Amino acid sequence: MSDPSIFSVQEIHQTAIIVVAAGSGTRLGYGIPKALVPLGGRTLLEHALDRIQLAGCAAQVIAVLPENDEGLADHAAHHPLHPHIVMGGATRTDSVRAGLGALGPDIQRVLIHDAARALTPPETFREVTAALLAGAHAVIPVLPVIDTIKSVTTDPGALQPHVTGTPARQNLRAVQTPQGFDAPILLAAHRAAAHWDQDRAEAVTDDAMLMEMIGERVDTVPGTAQGLKITTAPDLALAESMLSASTPKASLMTQQESGASAPLIPRTGIGIDVHAVADPSEPREMWLAGLRFPDDQGLSGHSDGDAVAHAACDALFSAAGIGDLGTHFGTDRPEYAGASGTTLLREAARLVRAAGFEIGNVAVQFVGRRPKFADRRLEADAVLSEAAGAPITVTATTSDGLGYEGSGTGITAYATALVYSPRH
Ligand code: CTP
Ligand code: MG
Repeated sequence: MSDPSIFSVQEIHQTAIIVVAAGSGTRLGYGIPKALVPLGGRTLLEHALDRIQLAGCAAQVIAVLPENDEGLADHAAHHPLHPHIVMGGATRTDSVRAGLGALGPDIQRVLIHDAARALTPPETFREVTAALLAGAHAVIPVLPVIDTIKSVTTDPGALQPHVTGTPARQNLRAVQTPQGFDAPILLAAHRAAAHWDQDRAEAVTDDAMLMEMIGERVDTVPGTAQGLKITTAPDLALAESMLSASTPKASLMTQQESGASAPLIPRTGIGIDVHAVADPSEPREMWLAGLRFPDDQGLSGHSDGDAVAHAACDALFSAAGIGDLGTHFGTDRPEYAGASGTTLLREAARLVRAAGFEIGNVAVQFVGRRPKFADRRLEADAVLSEAAGAPITVTATTSDGLGYEGSGTGITAYATALVYSPRH
């Protein structure tokens, strides 16, 4: 099996997670949607999204929310993952279908997760994803069953339900989420189920069962105690005690001891970009730091030559440890050929967040004789910060006449970035 903690950019791009959070939480009895219920100062939905962010295995995250609940929509919209929000349906199955309807065209794998399992750790998401990448079509986290389980009669006419059998306990497992699937096969299974009669359709209680019914093998990975489904008030109390037992220090140790690679301290990165000033015989627009400088001859290159934006992208990728400009905007991503510096920066920031990081800041300094920058520095900071959704500052210097920067034939931009994994 591939290492469950390292995924390639392409693998991340082809993976989606649907968090179903459209239930009403009747059994918990708070009178608000369950995903909005607070646990240690954050809503259940935010806890689930935090752990999905730390897992860093999916570029697309879809939150399925109750209709007309502005509170939850607000919490989702302000989460650094910026999940795609869709409205759920009357049953969990309807909500899953609504989520599946929002999958992007490139998605090959989809994980379906209950917001009610708010404390499911990032490792479980990574293990399910790794099992799919190793070739499984369906994967579920499971725990051994502690109680002896009996089947009983459910005949409404019977006076006293009686036992009809005792399945061997060693063969039984309690099922958790996220449940992971090959996306095209799951979508086909849902399409097939749409034509089933009501009894057959209602018998299906989760997506894994749907896969079983179309003859697909469902694999298992180990579940965890933290993956409990918060259904009733005692479940919430148990989750509360689990959360307070994992102080930041303790959770750092637990993650390190378990060998998980989710970084819990800031990481820095560096990026450098050099562009020559285009030959005067070929007039070009000068774009630098997201701004146009109308009085200057532009920089050469296939793109707009925005060395400042490019260095910032490379510093972000470097900090997140997910490659560089060539990895993400190379020849295999033709849609980025000729893209502006700010477009690349916006996408770089999104990729860094999809990999589980939030951006602290990016600092860029460029060395060059032109353009004259001081008057436009604040404007550049604003344009680049808006693109990255994080503070970016740009400064400029000259090289005392030395080298290509001093002669005005080229520009060098140096960038550093700081990223971090949000604590929880
Ligand atoms: N769910 C959903 N849409 C529904 C019903 C449930 O998205 N129509 C989601 C819930 O938000 C939850 C998960 O499915 O994350 C599991 O459901 P459950 O634990 O039963 O939650 P609720 O339906 O909210 O709770 P209750 O049954 O007590 O009302
Ligand atoms: Mg329910």
